[in-house]
Amino acid sequence: MSDSLEPLIWPRNVTREADGALRVNGVAVGALAAEFGTPVFVLDEDDFRARCREFRAAFDGMDVYYAGKAFLSMAIVRMIVEEGLRLDVCTGGELATALLAGMPAEDIGFHGNNKSVAELQAALDAGVGRIIVDSHDEIARLTRLASAAGLRPKVLVRVTVGIEAHTHEYIATAHEDQKFGFSLAGGDAMRAIAGILSDGALDLVGLHSHIGSQIFEPGGFEVAAKRLVSMCARVRSEQGTVLSELNLGGGFGIAYVASDDPAPTDQLACGMRKIVEQECELAGLPLPRIAVEPGRAIVGPAMFTLYEVGTVKDVGIRTYVSVDGGMSDNIRPALYGAAYTAVLAGRTSTAPGAPTRVVGRHCESGDIVVRDIELPSDTAIGDLLAVPATGAYCRSMASNYNHQPRPPVIAVRDGAARLLVRRETFEDLLRLDED
Ligand SMILES: Cc1ncc(COP(=O)(O)O)c(C=O)c1O
Repeated sequence: MSDSLEPLIWPRNVTREADGALRVNGVAVGALAAEFGTPVFVLDEDDFRARCREFRAAFDGMDVYYAGKAFLSMAIVRMIVEEGLRLDVCTGGELATALLAGMPAEDIGFHGNNKSVAELQAALDAGVGRIIVDSHDEIARLTRLASAAGLRPKVLVRVTVGIEAHTHEYIATAHEDQKFGFSLAGGDAMRAIAGILSDGALDLVGLHSHIGSQIFEPGGFEVAAKRLVSMCARVRSEQGTVLSELNLGGGFGIAYVASDDPAPTDQLACGMRKIVEQECELAGLPLPRIAVEPGRAIVGPAMFTLYEVGTVKDVGIRTYVSVDGGMSDNIRPALYGAAYTAVLAGRTSTAPGAPTRVVGRHCESGDIVVRDIELPSDTAIGDLLAVPATGAYCRSMASNYNHQPRPPVIAVRDGAARLLVRRETFEDLLRLDED
């Protein structure tokens, strides 16, 4: 069967060499497995950095915040600083990681629908550049803390623009019936804005919208942009204030399987810019500073997971190939029904394809890595299997279910691999247990 690598799905510097093995920036996967064990997340560092630069170029003149929730580590923070990106964090833990790794606080945007007093205090202490407020309770909490500290932090109001994004329910965030933001249609967004402006304790610089994740078409972003600009026009006419920033969030889709066909980044960027320019001109508003927050589209395609096959079971209608990880390192198939693909990574095979389900080693029958795939019928114990596009929301959502230590993350560049996050040990797992 064919062992070719679908170009959009794999990191750009992954190749299949004459010996049949995959190589990343010149390093064979067998060598990576021998040095770091499996499962292991493998980042093509050149690809990751290239994607950072491509976002900067496509959104030239705008602010690009890498969404740390997709995958964050100290090394990743340093890379995005080097590549000129800002950072979106959504918890005190992400904030602490960013600050420890040297991210300038001014370049951080802080999200979250339930930021605690301690988290908001930490953001104020550090001088975080933008706090995106998400509820009336948070506005009151932040107002109290900022006033006590004699500070006037810059804030954006997160607006629920009322778009049904064509994506999974759990990753759609701009329809009315969900937990994020202030409703535009219901008037809550205007009430929040008016309250902040009349109180004056917080420096309201703009509006924010994030319509969801894994979005392929420009339409939703453009409608969101249009609605935010018309909101800005209302704020000017009703409150006499001109807001200077629009953050259009993240959500740029990527290809996980061959049939996925996301719009190219520069097309999305161009569409967003055009709509904001047109609408501002129509409303007679000065052009605001525009920001976006891509996570998945930067780190997702730049990483793959390398597993080793442990058992192969033929149940008649298909073969179950079990790998040494599963839902603890990739919860997305179980959580959203997300589709992935896989290939034999250490060799090629001329054997015919057989209907296969790649499963993990956990005590759940929903512990599926790839639901339906043809893999060579001679796939055997000890084979290396690579699953592409696992950079986003896999290691960051990893768990210790069944007391499985979480896999390491390595970066490969210029023929050399280095650890970004080491493998958890049993000692790590037991660290929190009291005797
Ligand atoms: C506010 C916000 N910004 C950005 C992102 C990043 O989304 P993505 O990784 O799909 O680009 C998310 C994801 O949930 C988000 O909630």
